Amino acid sequence: MQNLLSFGQLRIDARLACLREKAKSGRDPSTPDETLNYLLYTIQTLRPSRILEIGTGEGLSGAAMLFAAKDARLTSIECVEERFFTAKKNFADLGLSIRADLIFGDAGEVLPHLNGAYDLIFLDGPKAQYLNYFPCLKALLRSGGVLFADDVLLYGWVDGREPMPAKRRPLVEKIRAYLRAVLEDPDFITSVLPLGEGVAVSVRL
Ligand SMILES: C[S@@+](CC[C@H](N)C(=O)[O-])C[C@H]1O[C@@H](n2cnc3c(N)ncnc32)[C@H](O)[C@@H]1O
Repeated sequence: MQNLLSFGQLRIDARLACLREKAKSGRDPSTPDETLNYLLYTIQTLRPSRILEIGTGEGLSGAAMLFAAKDARLTSIECVEERFFTAKKNFADLGLSIRADLIFGDAGEVLPHLNGAYDLIFLDGPKAQYLNYFPCLKALLRSGGVLFADDVLLYGWVDGREPMPAKRRPLVEKIRAYLRAVLEDPDFITSVLPLGEGVAVSVRL
């Protein structure tokens, strides 16, 4: 099944596909095909005007979202300088700079200064901080909007499918706490899906 899933059916700009291929060997690779596919499907149904991303990386998921939502603007936060500048260049090369507001900084410091309301938030930054970011993200999301959090099952460690290395327990417990918070929050309907390293899709009521 894993092989079938990783086939994906990603239909994206050829230049972007090429950049994603190159990024696969990097330390923080871009979102896998099956996850990005579902994110783009969510975009097609939601038709967002304002998208917020935590964890720009090299800008490849952000670019895919902007290609899928032709009228949307993206605000994206990245704290590693080299990635921030690579993302800036990638958005420029792909002709998307005009719709991308890239912010260099620590998401924990940037988020409290943003103003809502976003239609879609793609949470793909530091996993240990998801729960800390949650109150801010909730305040920034319009009702009917979607909070799409990546890597929430982390190699099957979070849901116990695979044994976790002892040293990863603190991180796993933090992700579990995030999942509990969104699943128990009466203002959200959340589905946890086994795509890539796991996604939690939370719809704000
Ligand atoms: C998985 S990568 C993002 C990949 C990108 N969203 C994509 O799919 O192409 C996670 C990114 O979050 C960034 N990051 C980690 N901690 C952060 C923080 N506290 N604030 C902002 N960005 C952070 C990392 O530098 C890294 O580039």
